[in-house]
Amino acid sequence: KPEKPTNNTTKQSSWVSPDWLTSLAQSLSIGKDDSNIPIANAKLEDVSELLGGALFLPLFKWMQEYGPIYRLAAGPRNFVVVSDPAIAKHVLRNYGKYAKGLVAEVSEFLFGSGFAIAEGQLWTVRRRAVVPSLHKTYLSVIVDRVFCKCAERLVEKLKTNALNGSAVNMEENFSQLTLDVIGLALFNYNFDSLTTDSPVIDAVYTSLKEAEARSTDLLPYWKINALCKIIPRQIKAEKAVTLIRKTVEELINKCKEIVESEGERINEEEYVNETDPSILRFLLASREEVSSIQLRDDLLSMLVAGHETTGSVLTWTAYLLSKDPSSLSKAQEEVDRVLQGRSPTYEDIKNLKFLTRCINESLRLYPHPPVLLRRAQVADVLPGNYKVNPGQDIMISVYNIHHSPQVWDRAEVFVPERFDLDGPMPNETNTDFRFIPFSGGPRKCIGDQFALLEAIVALAIFVQHMDFELVPDQNISMTTGATIHTENGLYMKVSQRQTKSAFAASSSSSR
Ligand code: HEM
Repeated sequence: KPEKPTNNTTKQSSWVSPDWLTSLAQSLSIGKDDSNIPIANAKLEDVSELLGGALFLPLFKWMQEYGPIYRLAAGPRNFVVVSDPAIAKHVLRNYGKYAKGLVAEVSEFLFGSGFAIAEGQLWTVRRRAVVPSLHKTYLSVIVDRVFCKCAERLVEKLKTNALNGSAVNMEENFSQLTLDVIGLALFNYNFDSLTTDSPVIDAVYTSLKEAEARSTDLLPYWKINALCKIIPRQIKAEKAVTLIRKTVEELINKCKEIVESEGERINEEEYVNETDPSILRFLLASREEVSSIQLRDDLLSMLVAGHETTGSVLTWTAYLLSKDPSSLSKAQEEVDRVLQGRSPTYEDIKNLKFLTRCINESLRLYPHPPVLLRRAQVADVLPGNYKVNPGQDIMISVYNIHHSPQVWDRAEVFVPERFDLDGPMPNETNTDFRFIPFSGGPRKCIGDQFALLEAIVALAIFVQHMDFELVPDQNISMTTGATIHTENGLYMKVSQRQTKSAFAASSSSSR
């Protein structure tokens, strides 16, 4: 299997900022800082932690020392770090004043003009074009045709581990599961990464790894085209991106031919094509005026945004449940009662209340990404009378907000019931930005419903068929990236549960 990527897109450095001289001056406290923002003086060991480890952990330490807003002044690096819901709300909602900034710089080689990093009119137009594809009918079809099918295949695979007693890296398996899901849901393409290796899968992981590496490179040499042609890492990355792009372009061309030969057009509000319910098919049938390149980059944006994130949610939820046997039993009892041994339908999801809260609580404790980045476009005053200058890079530490004792009772404890079981799905609006796993404001995640449904279905089918426990004495440490992931994998021993399921009784029977 390809090596698991460790993404570090959060570990940005401000040398790429056009205002880096201002940043340096502020970092060194040259001139009077009238922003009212306390300056955190990072010690040498903290800086090395920032470069090599899990970024959000020192950020949390400094929040305890300097409060909910501070300037991180470490050499030429200068970020305003925000750990307060009201300030986060202000920055995230005022998209006109705060652009995406650094994230775009390190991932442009992969996303191209994709709308996850685009700004201005291009972003507005493309987001408006893509969002309608994720409608309720599409989601209900995908639950059955993609989420359940892929999760059932994972369980089939795990049965071998259950039989021979071998330890299994669940992080790797969840990552493969979510890659298979997103490939099918986006372009009706089966990566089949749960059971096979392929150059395209390798290419996906290589390019994710490259985005991570770029975010921590001290010299952005990859901005110089000539160097990219001779440095082995860049040659490898370019080859990977070329292969992914070519694969997606071929899928687009094939789908375009079919749509055109059938004269297909969207003829109802929640349109789904029976034979190919993918987002690509929807977008082509909508006959939007868009170039194939833009479409390719938009789909790639969604592939990357929707893959590791959901995989990591499943990884950490399984981890939390393995540490809390009473919550695991509760989740299994609920799944057995609601599903009676079958796989879930879209309608079942609302009844898997406790399981859903386990996922919400996992997203609180392990938000992906743990920090959000923005760059001020104009001078602004943040709530609390903190001044920021144009060009200022801002890190909203979702991890800090979600772990702050000022914001949450028993902030460090896994308590799924802290979110009312019969209440609405917790989000940024109904928690007033105390809970922001999908961000908030205009650039909020467009895949939140998709991801929650996918995670609920996968977890339901996993706990329905499997008991699991952590392999003892393994070192499960966190590292940062676009998601929080483990440094060495998450190894578990799995065993098959006795269920009434027709699926469990006959592995070959299909839904
Ligand atoms: C944006 C989280 C799954 C597509 C975002 C953002 C967050 C996020 C926090 C906003 C970043 C920011 O404000 O800078 C997550 C989590 C997921 C998940 C935690 C899984 C549990 C998905 C899925 C898709 C997706 C499955 C696609 C089907 C996107 C896109 C954007 C985005 C396209 C960019 C939106 C824009 O800039 O307008 N996601 N996401 N995400 N997400 Fe997700």
